[in-house]
Amino acid sequence: SASNDHLFVVKEASYTRLCSTKNILTVNGQFPGPTIRVFTGDTIFVEVSNEGKENITIHWHGVRQPRYPWSDGPAYITQCPIKPGASFRQKIIFSEEEGTLWWHAHSDWSRATVHGAIIIQPRPGTAGYPFPEPNAEVPIILGEWWKQDVTEVRNELLRTGGLPATSDAFTINGQPGDLYPCSSSETFTLTVDEGKTYLLRIINAAMDEMLFFSIANHDLTVVGTDGAYTNPLTTSYITISPGQTLDVLLQANQNPNLYYMASSVYSTVVNLDFINNTTATAVLQYNGNYTPISSPPLPYLPSRNDTNSAFQFIGSLRSLANEDHPIDVPLDITSSIFSTVSLNTLPCENDNNSCEGPNGTRLAASLNNQSFVEPSSIAILEAYYERINGVYGENFPDFPPYLFNFTADDLPMILQIPKQGTEVKVLDYDSAVEINFQGTNLVAGTSHPIHLHGYSFFVVGFGFGNFDEEKDPLNYNLIDPPLRTIVDVPISGWATVRFRASNPGVWFMHCHREEHLTWGMKTVFIVKNGESPQERLLPPPPDVPPC
Ligand code: C2O
Ligand code: CU
Repeated sequence: SASNDHLFVVKEASYTRLCSTKNILTVNGQFPGPTIRVFTGDTIFVEVSNEGKENITIHWHGVRQPRYPWSDGPAYITQCPIKPGASFRQKIIFSEEEGTLWWHAHSDWSRATVHGAIIIQPRPGTAGYPFPEPNAEVPIILGEWWKQDVTEVRNELLRTGGLPATSDAFTINGQPGDLYPCSSSETFTLTVDEGKTYLLRIINAAMDEMLFFSIANHDLTVVGTDGAYTNPLTTSYITISPGQTLDVLLQANQNPNLYYMASSVYSTVVNLDFINNTTATAVLQYNGNYTPISSPPLPYLPSRNDTNSAFQFIGSLRSLANEDHPIDVPLDITSSIFSTVSLNTLPCENDNNSCEGPNGTRLAASLNNQSFVEPSSIAILEAYYERINGVYGENFPDFPPYLFNFTADDLPMILQIPKQGTEVKVLDYDSAVEINFQGTNLVAGTSHPIHLHGYSFFVVGFGFGNFDEEKDPLNYNLIDPPLRTIVDVPISGWATVRFRASNPGVWFMHCHREEHLTWGMKTVFIVKNGESPQERLLPPPPDVPPC
């Protein structure tokens, strides 16, 4: 039907924020981009037509695309980019996902402005939401505004080898809000009726920052994460990492007036100059006859480096896991993977051989000490499907056990230097997989939101410090762990996920902080075909973009 066909024209459009006007890359001229609304299990087509000046790809974050990675989007992993003037008709196959997901560009840094919400509602005639029907649904997209061109920010990051520039404002639905200059006349306003319930579909579309979000005088009830239902959790604030989504019920049960909602940064990185200027606001405005308060209350937000509050929220999430929404956590693990998650350095290779990383090096990032390099003239999926040799290797490195002993900052330089490579991890069809991530704090400590394409996984445990192979598994939650597309590996800590490898194909895994992705914190899983025809990778569409 017509509503299952969408046209995404990627093109520049002029936007004004923070007192200045610039051209940004958009879909259909919109920032944030158009919302896609579907029912559970739908298949849709999106014709992506590139009328911009740069290569582009579009990814459907959290959509599992059963047996069909061809439309998944990450550049040089599942497809070559769509060149200016070219187009690609992407088939998006929804299966069990229900709730909020999002789409975003997956080439260079274009996702800063090229992104939008995906709302998946229960199919009509089925049981519907596992909570009272909300009166309205509202996407709340937390993002950033960059005065600089983001492609330039990325190029500079690669050229200098140092830290990237930071954005100039955080935003809610594209607007910085009243606390930033020249913004108050356009602050996003959510108008509500007293007594009604609103389903907020919250997305963290920021490039690098984990965020807190809260609404003054109002509780938030979390009912979903990353396209799956949770046991309702009532809280005064939420924590949301880049790439994650949360479904939150808001009851308009306060005195009719104006209240601020706000997002702020959680970060353990010190000395970042942007850090004092990170509270984006929007206004919750009740309908009715009243004299609006002249300065509405701001919500309580945990302080910037409040790791306890950040992870307290994350650790409170549970799957709904009831009769109508059963979950199936793999118990007999057949494939156990350990992976370090590290920030490192590499030798400087620019013209004057001096980079802005520690001791003149350039910053890098790795999984098991491999800093991943994508191929540049073919996508890994095509190489796999066509059996073209020499594009990637199948020897994703094993966990280097010595790293357990070196989580402190006194690590010998030699251990800080990862190997660059394109080694992937191959999994048998239907294996019961466990991945244990260990943050190593080699160069600096920060948390890492690790995202796997083609799957959602159960987060069965996480903690601070080094993983204890004997004790920590005893505390795994195998009953109602949250089902997520992104696991937060805490600062210098560990996290364990489980999933069943029942989706054959080529699937990217990476840190969803854009700078870490650029530095190499990524790898690829190749899940082999099963025996039956229903367990095999589907053939490619005719118009896969050529390199
Ligand atoms: Cu949200 Cu690899 O993406
Ligand atoms: Cu990271």
